[in-house]
This record gives sequence, C-alpha cells and structure tokens, in this order.
Amino acid sequence: AEKLVAALAPDVREACEIAIAGPGFINFTLKPAALAAWLRAHDSEHQLRTGAAAAHAGQTWVVDYSSPNTAKQMHVGHLRSAVIGEAIARLLAFTGARVVRDNHIGDWGTQFGKLIWAYKRHLDPAAFARDPLEEFERLYKVGSNTAEADPAVMDAARAELVKLQAGDAENLAIWKRINDVSLEAFQQIYDQLGIRFDHALGESFYNDKVEAIYGALTACGLAVESEGALVVFHPEHPRFNEQPLIIRKRDGAANYATTDLATILHRAEHFKATGALYVVDKRQSDHFDQLFLTAKKWFEKTNRPLPHLEHVDFGTVLGENNKPLKTRTGENIRLRELLGEAEQRAFALVTEKSADLPEADRRAIARIVGVGSVQYADLAQNRSSDYVFSWDKMISLEGNTAAYLLYAVARIHSIFRKLGVAPGDPATEAAASALETPAELALARKLVKFPDAVRLATDSLRPHFLCLYLYELAGEFSTFYNADKVAVDDAPVRARRLLLCARTLLILETSLHLLGLRTLTRM
Ligand code: ARG
Repeated sequence: AEKLVAALAPDVREACEIAIAGPGFINFTLKPAALAAWLRAHDSEHQLRTGAAAAHAGQTWVVDYSSPNTAKQMHVGHLRSAVIGEAIARLLAFTGARVVRDNHIGDWGTQFGKLIWAYKRHLDPAAFARDPLEEFERLYKVGSNTAEADPAVMDAARAELVKLQAGDAENLAIWKRINDVSLEAFQQIYDQLGIRFDHALGESFYNDKVEAIYGALTACGLAVESEGALVVFHPEHPRFNEQPLIIRKRDGAANYATTDLATILHRAEHFKATGALYVVDKRQSDHFDQLFLTAKKWFEKTNRPLPHLEHVDFGTVLGENNKPLKTRTGENIRLRELLGEAEQRAFALVTEKSADLPEADRRAIARIVGVGSVQYADLAQNRSSDYVFSWDKMISLEGNTAAYLLYAVARIHSIFRKLGVAPGDPATEAAASALETPAELALARKLVKFPDAVRLATDSLRPHFLCLYLYELAGEFSTFYNADKVAVDDAPVRARRLLLCARTLLILETSLHLLGLRTLTRM
C-alpha cells in the first residue's frame, strides 16, 4: 500500500487525503478545496456536458423507441418505450454520441386488408372528423367481425390487402391517410412527453428493401426453403433449431423479421451506426434474440462490421390487482386519457398547496407536474421489472417522485428570488469562503458524484440509477438547508452556501431534463 500511495500522481495527492487503513485498504477522501474546485468549474449545463462528452464521442447510436402500430390509439402499454427511450436518447447525446431517434412504426401489416375493406363501406365522416383514430379502431372492429362471420368478406378483405401490396392507387391513398392521421395523433402525445423523432422509418419504408434480404441471406447460405417459406435455422440453438426465423411467409409476403433485418442493414450502412438500441417490451425478447443471432451470422459471412444490437427491454405496467393495467371494463387505458388524468390530479395537488396562485398558473404547473409524475414513476423503476401503477404514490410530494424533485427545484429558485441574487452569479460566488460544516461537505460530496450517476445510468441503459441519485441529492440538500442557514450576514459564508444552492439547482435541473421532464421555477 505504501508503494502504491508513493506512486500516485501528484494531482491525486493534492486533491485527496490518503490514508492506509490496514492491510488491503487505502482510503481516499476528497479535500474540501478539491470539492470546491469541482463545483466552481462546473457552473453550467454546458460544463457538465463537456465533462461527460468523452464517453461516447464519435459514436452514432440509433434509438428505436415508441414504435407503435398505426390505425390504433396509443395505450398505457406504449408509455414505457416512449419514456425510457427518450431518457436513453438524451443520456447518450449528453455523453457525446450522435443520436438518431427512430420511430419504427408498424404501418404495414395484415390489419390493413380488413381496415380498408371497412373504410370503403362504413366510414362515418362525422366521427372521423371528431376523432379519426377512434373511427379507425371502430372500422377495424367492423371489418374484423364481419370477416369472421362471413368467408366472402374475409376473401374480399384479403383481396384489398393484395391490392395494397401490389401498389393499387386507391388503396395506397387510403393507407397513407390512415398513417398520416395516426402519426398526427401520436405527435400530440409526443408533444406532451417532449419527444421529437429524427425519423419515423416504419415497416413500410422497407417494402422495397426486403427482396434484397431474401437474396442476401440465401446467397450466404443462411436462408433455406422450408414448407414453402424462406427460413433461417440455428442448429446450435436449443429452440431456434426447430423454430426457425421465417423471413418470407408461404404466401410470399415479408413479415416483422424481414423488415427488421432490412432495418439493421439500413442502420449499419446509411446511419453508420455504432449501435442500435431497441426499447421494446420484454415479451419480444425471443424475436430480438433470433433476429440478432441471424444478423450476426449474416454480417460475419459477408464481412461487414455488425453494429452493437441490444434489446433494451422493460416489464409491464400493472394495476393494483397485479395484472396488466386496464380500465374497469377490461379495456386498454388510452395514453391520452391517462396523461389527461395525471394533469387533473396534479392540478388538485397544486391547488391544495398554492391556492393563492392564479388558476392559469396552477394549470400550467399541473401540466408539467402531471406528465412529469407519470414519466418519473416509470423511469424510477428498474426498467426490467413490472411495476404497479399508483396515482397516489406517483403524484405525491413525498418519496422518490417527480413532485418532490420539482418542488426541490422550485424551492431553490425561491431562495434566490428572496435574496435578489441570480443562481450562479459570478460576483457572489467569487466571494465564497472554504466549505466547512459537515452538511456543506456532505452536500458537496453528493454533487461531485453527478458524473458517476450519469455514467452508470448511461452504461447500463437504466435511467433509474439517475433517479435514485436525484432522490439522494434532494435529501442531502434538505439536510443541509435545515442545518445551515443560507441567508446569514457573514458575506463569504452566505456566498459559499449560495454556491451550493446554485450547483444543486443546476444538477437537479440538468438531470431532470436528461430524464425528459420539464422543470419549474415556482410550484
Ligand atoms: N411495432 C412494434 C410493436 O408495436 C414494435 C417495433 C419495435 N421495433 C422494432 N424494430 N421491431 O410491437
């Protein structure tokens, strides 16, 4: 241990108290001056970002998230992919990556046969004008029920699908209308969640690219004909040896796996991706295992570098009964309604706490607290687990919640407002004396751990690590604020406490924004 300590670089010895603590242990404790130096140097989001940017500099990551199927409303099952995917995209961008946000929408499937059949016969223009997605869902049900009951209708629906796939102008126009309207409706949800995609390269984008996939996989010896379909066997795999990946169905049509193979090629060649992350329900893990295994062999055989492919899986949102969350009548809860209810409930909370604020202000605050609470409750869980959706726990000022953290942010803003100083004011901070009290030092030690928290959340693609850090930071701030008065007469002491307040604010705000939340200056 003595040899190791003697060999340490001078800046490490300068920054730390180093103590040999028995055999096998060397303790490093950052000196107060080193803590203060870090805090002074990291005085803006830009500085924090610069410090973090080395991790993924020069890399390109495609994040495939949200990715709902068109002609249907987004329901609570679509929440997690959107929320977790956005946080991961922001974390990667913050740590230096070029991020390609790609919404891989399911806009090309067999459902369009029945839907187009019904659209041509049963469209209700008034209902469509009121709520187009609702009307598409109704039409799909009409098409599907009628086709179940009547084989002639089933054939007619199939014929509509064949016409669409053959490029029939009328069916293509209907299909396009359905998709355009769906995307517009999705966009309203994305706006509420603060999501902007760079691309929405859905399944249909790959229509003209699947032919090449059949050719390429056959040529390299991976794909073989089996019972009229084109499939890839993985003889070494316990399940995929008998359950091959089907890439062309017996009827000649492409499927989910085919477009996903074309998507991997596009991401590798067009985006030059270092990696692609698929933020998708864990129930699809078999699909991705089989897909990635196939891509790996295909790229190896054709001497292409394969991007890192990873299924960023997540569990299910459960109701209080521990079953997937549904309405009382057993239907899926629409995301739009869920976010609306979140806003309503947040409005009640804000009104209870700050009845004196004008209603318009309370509404604006409730929008941010409501949606943020839903986002945060999802992010604060280890994504691989299921979690129970509970309004009372989620929209609460107690516990590891958005409201608790947003309130901490607003409270620090109010400290600065009361003292008439701007957070981070250089003249104030220049006057700060050395950190001294146990609470000051404990808070500073927590603040300097921000890069570690970001690193951990990003490397593991698990935003809950950042949530946990924020919760602890907010707790440390409370302890400090209760122990050490900020508005003291002694100017250098006051200045150093204001410095701590400003950095806590900066790190709370930066982190909440990284998670995809919006923050408030009053609450
Ligand atoms: N549209 C699919 C679904 O709703 C999810 C697509 C995920 N992305 C992908 N490249 N397969 O289940």
